[in-house]
Amino acid sequence: MTTPLLEVRSLARVYEMNRGLFAKGTGVRAVDDVSLRLERGDTLGIVGESGSGKSTTGRVVLGLEPPSAGDVLFEGRPMAAHGSPEWRRSRMRMQMIYQDPLGALDRRLPVAAQVREPLDIHRIGNAAERDERVGELLQAVGLSASVTQRYPHELSGGQRQRVVLARALITRPDILVCDEPVSALDVSIQAQVVNLLSDLQAELGIAMLFISHDLRVVRQVSRRIAVMYLGRIVEEGDADDLFARPEHPYTRALVSAAPSPGRRIADREMLQGEPPNPAQRPSGCSFHPRCPVAIARCRSDLPALVDLGGNRLVACHLASAGGIVPPSMVPASAAKSQPAMEASAP
Ligand SMILES: Nc1ncnc2c1ncn2[C@@H]1O[C@H](COP(=O)(O)OP(=O)(O)OP(=O)(O)O)[C@@H](O)[C@H]1O
Ligand code: SF4
Ligand SMILES: [Mg+2]
Repeated sequence: MTTPLLEVRSLARVYEMNRGLFAKGTGVRAVDDVSLRLERGDTLGIVGESGSGKSTTGRVVLGLEPPSAGDVLFEGRPMAAHGSPEWRRSRMRMQMIYQDPLGALDRRLPVAAQVREPLDIHRIGNAAERDERVGELLQAVGLSASVTQRYPHELSGGQRQRVVLARALITRPDILVCDEPVSALDVSIQAQVVNLLSDLQAELGIAMLFISHDLRVVRQVSRRIAVMYLGRIVEEGDADDLFARPEHPYTRALVSAAPSPGRRIADREMLQGEPPNPAQRPSGCSFHPRCPVAIARCRSDLPALVDLGGNRLVACHLASAGGIVPPSMVPASAAKSQPAMEASAP
């Protein structure tokens, strides 16, 4: 097997909570035993409800936060310590795009200077080459020459995110980590920015980790999708196949809840309840309090992420036993039963 561009092995990130409602020593296990591979030029989507650990995974992958356990390997080598010269060099090759473009931009710099700044900082090319590259990228992201001397607050949300994208691409990164890059945008603009991201990713051959709570958006840009629930990957597979044939009950609920042409709202199988508090993770399969098909074993045994063949990994006792999961997500008995809880240890 070739060395992937990015490999994440058994990653965990625990936040110690020693204040407020949290007892001393309580740990929020935001990411728990997550393993991922991303090949050069490939796209991996990470999807899940709020609090499932998507952003934490992205931050640890970029070395912005240290893992509590596990490894992040970039081209087969461990990620350098945060802030070290080696980390800065590898960070140039890994760029992040956040939800809030205004927060990511320097309000005092006009667009052209903003996009050029990484080249100035890393002393890449001479002045003429830098200007030429800025012009190329602004054109590539669909920004006209008329905006180059404007400031971020003078742009629309979509234009700002295009500036962020141009700035992220200017150092020719190998990986883009996009964390909810279109969630703050108007729905009509979302599709344009997603298409642009997708086109540029394919054209430039950049690998992309695309994080979103919106399964439709993730599907649009990802070849593979990993579904996270309470810090763990519960299912991973090829995007179209996962959408057509979700195995895990949680994925089934997400797919069913995603609006789809021709499907009436009444026909959607809606997921009941909220995700549990990550500091009080349910025992066994942490989805069991919301799972309509949970069996006794689910309350005590943590299901392993098992390769079911066909590039599909699933963490569910029923799925790995070959059991067909009934489609109904109305949690009749599950909703009434009290979940068995255990405080998550750091
Ligand atoms: N710095 C922190 N200190 C303590 N807990 C944190 C911290 N950052 C994240 N968490 C907790 O870790 C869990 C995962 O958070 P994370 O932001 O990764 O989720 P997410 O999937 O990105 O959610 P969202 O869709 O809302 O962005 C949450 O329970 C969150 O409250
Ligand atoms: S392991 Fe049990 S509770 Fe968890 S998803 Fe599968 S059937 Fe549901
Ligand atoms: Mg997030």
